[in-house]
Amino acid sequence: MQNSLATQVAGIRLRNPTILASGVLGISGSILRRIAEAGAGAVITKSLGLIPRAGYKNPTIVELEVGLLNAMGLPNPGAEEFLNEISIAKKGGAPLIASIFGSSLSEFSKVAEIVAKGGVDAIELNLSCPHVNTTGLILGQDANLVKELVKNVKRKVKIPVIAKLSSNVSSIAEIAKAAEEGGADAITAINTLRAMAIDINVKKPILANGIGGLSGPAIKPVGVRCVYEIYEAVKIPILGAGGVTAGKDAVEYILAGASAVQIGTAVVTRGIEVFKDVNEEVKEYMKENGYKEVSELVGQAHKA
Ligand code: DHB
Repeated sequence: MQNSLATQVAGIRLRNPTILASGVLGISGSILRRIAEAGAGAVITKSLGLIPRAGYKNPTIVELEVGLLNAMGLPNPGAEEFLNEISIAKKGGAPLIASIFGSSLSEFSKVAEIVAKGGVDAIELNLSCPHVNTTGLILGQDANLVKELVKNVKRKVKIPVIAKLSSNVSSIAEIAKAAEEGGADAITAINTLRAMAIDINVKKPILANGIGGLSGPAIKPVGVRCVYEIYEAVKIPILGAGGVTAGKDAVEYILAGASAVQIGTAVVTRGIEVFKDVNEEVKEYMKENGYKEVSELVGQAHKA
């Protein structure tokens, strides 16, 4: 029996359901191209804003037993500067998604227009950076603002718009519904969790910013729960993110309701081979369980 890893999310055809998560490997066209060539079904940039941002002082990242903790402070060269990288990134043969952030609704729309004109295949709205207070999370915690924000961006661009949500809210399903009502084409769940690590010898937080975002295996059960709840609340597709390290993790997210998964921390801990490995393992699972298409698997954990 032939089985296929191809899947469709928000009108974008993916040759397989593994996507490079935002933030892990920056915005360099040549690196995004390499990730596509290593087997990712699509690649997402580090979040881009309207103007260049230096980010926080070091240390910005610390490896913990259960995952990574980071607070970079959204460093980026600005959306305009990124446009030179687009044609290079797309040589990898996978759809290119620009992650964007803004400090206001109008700034989000401006950045969206810039990257859309530059030729990216879709936009992911970072509504969920866990610690840069003027952006993302404050907007992303308010259902009405999320709806307005998505609506504004959708008015400005023709390409698919994906809303990346935080689990640091009382009801992620409610926020996902608001994004859907605003016209979002898909939801990404979840971003990193607000967290902290303290150096017990120095007796101070390790990260220069104090609070950071926790990613990796520790947050997978939270991500799976969020995807499960969102799947019951909306009709648009979901991209699962948070702790996908092996094929079994991807399958878990897909059974919860994700049409594809994003991989971030595991690219750091396992290397870029992770895309090929996860895909092979998902294919193996499908073969063993008699599935021909990824779509047959999506949301199966909801069946009575
Ligand atoms: C940063 C942004 C995020 O959205 C996130 O989840 C973690 C870190 C940052 O640039 O600091």
